[in-house]
Amino acid sequence: MTTTLLTGGTVVSATGRSAADVLIDGETIVAVLAPGSTLLGHDLAASVDTVIDATGKYVIPGGIDAHTHMQLPFGGTSASDTFETGTRAAAWGGTTTIVDFAVQRTGERIQDGLAHWHELAAGNCAIDYGFHQIVGGVDADSLAALPGLIDEGISSFKMFMAYPGVFYADDAQILRAMQVAADTGLLTMMHAENGPVIDVLAEQLVAKGKTDPYFHGVARAWQMEEEATHRAIMLSNLTGAPLYVVHVSAKQAVEQLAWARDNGQNVFGETCPQYLYLSLEDQLGASSEEWGAFEGAKWVCSTPLRSKHEGHQHHMWQALRTNDIQMVSTDHCPFCMKDQKTLGLGDFRAIPNGIGSVEHRMDLMYQGVVTGQITLERWVELTSTTPARMFGMYGKKGVIAPGADADIVVYDPAGHTSIGVGKTHHMNMDHSAWEGYEIDGHVDTVLSRGKVVVDDGAYLGAKGDGRFVKRGLSQYLV
Ligand code: URP
Ligand code: ZN
Ligand code: ZN
Ligand code: ZN
Repeated sequence: MTTTLLTGGTVVSATGRSAADVLIDGETIVAVLAPGSTLLGHDLAASVDTVIDATGKYVIPGGIDAHTHMQLPFGGTSASDTFETGTRAAAWGGTTTIVDFAVQRTGERIQDGLAHWHELAAGNCAIDYGFHQIVGGVDADSLAALPGLIDEGISSFKMFMAYPGVFYADDAQILRAMQVAADTGLLTMMHAENGPVIDVLAEQLVAKGKTDPYFHGVARAWQMEEEATHRAIMLSNLTGAPLYVVHVSAKQAVEQLAWARDNGQNVFGETCPQYLYLSLEDQLGASSEEWGAFEGAKWVCSTPLRSKHEGHQHHMWQALRTNDIQMVSTDHCPFCMKDQKTLGLGDFRAIPNGIGSVEHRMDLMYQGVVTGQITLERWVELTSTTPARMFGMYGKKGVIAPGADADIVVYDPAGHTSIGVGKTHHMNMDHSAWEGYEIDGHVDTVLSRGKVVVDDGAYLGAKGDGRFVKRGLSQYLV
């Protein structure tokens, strides 16, 4: 067993910060001590195998990205990051756990979809990983299989009010699944957009020749995010099943969540960095020499980027402060332009949906600290502690405390990170949705269960370092 001491840093939690040393034995944190402490008379720095000097730096629990889609089959292709490349990129960016979505489709057994996802991930991940279950076909068989997920360490499942013909569930199906969730303690995650209406709007736009990526954002109107969010909230109210709305982008959807929470409902929301920084006009509407107006395909994702003239981003940052939105994930679902996004040249409906950000979430959210939008503690809470609690991993993950896994990031507030292909880019994509972003701050050292996997610009981990995390029921619910 290797022993490690992190000295001289400021340990940051969701509730405070203090100068402290962190002692690690093997994979586990065993003590958080006043700086320079001895332990039973032993000078720790002289007694341990490795000393990591964190002077002037923040020592934070490793990031937990609770929404990724490695290798997701979508739109006639598959997300370009494998579990190997995607989790390695995550580690580079200070994320030490992902929760990916195992897929079940109509007619497929949940157990088979899940077993396939285990095959894809096992032995390939750089960091620890858990699964949510996508229920893409709600029927008697999948409903009967849901309770069994808990013993598999999967305590949450996602349904889609969008994507008719793919993953779509209608209200009756959602009702039945939520009834199971209410009975078992499973957490219902919802893609809340009115898919049937959006598909008609998209068809009408394409019929008028409006085929550029920009119109993906026009078709996916905020009204249909607000409406679906409200409908999901009422179904949650009716059944008593707690609700977690994924990738919230419209301020009106946030207002629905706030309203439900004020009424005492167990309703939660997640947003993603793209909804805090990027817009319909500047990204989906972008044009380049290489791609013309198809440049915007790089940012085709659902829910879509919203108009910068409607106050969504301002409202979203506010919701992060007021806890109307509880956490930030990436919805990492990367596709290359070449051979993937280009499937939708001439028809935005055929562009595979998704943005790749797993590598940059910690840096991008730290900019909220730099600009005074959120506190340092809230940064840790949004990116690590709440994801751990929400999805039943807290204690082992999401905190620097004795008994926790030694998943730790040494973050340098005086450092700098230039994002872009050929710079800090490790995701398997031929472009970056964040090209040119200059970050105040730098991920210096990353430990995954006590092993240093990233240090000083070098990757020291290996494929297969990451293990499956069996999650318990949500610890965020009263
Ligand atoms: O555009 C997105 N979000 N792609 C991934 C699938 C989903 O809806 O989360
Ligand atoms: Zn979704
Ligand atoms: Zn997603
Ligand atoms: Zn540095």
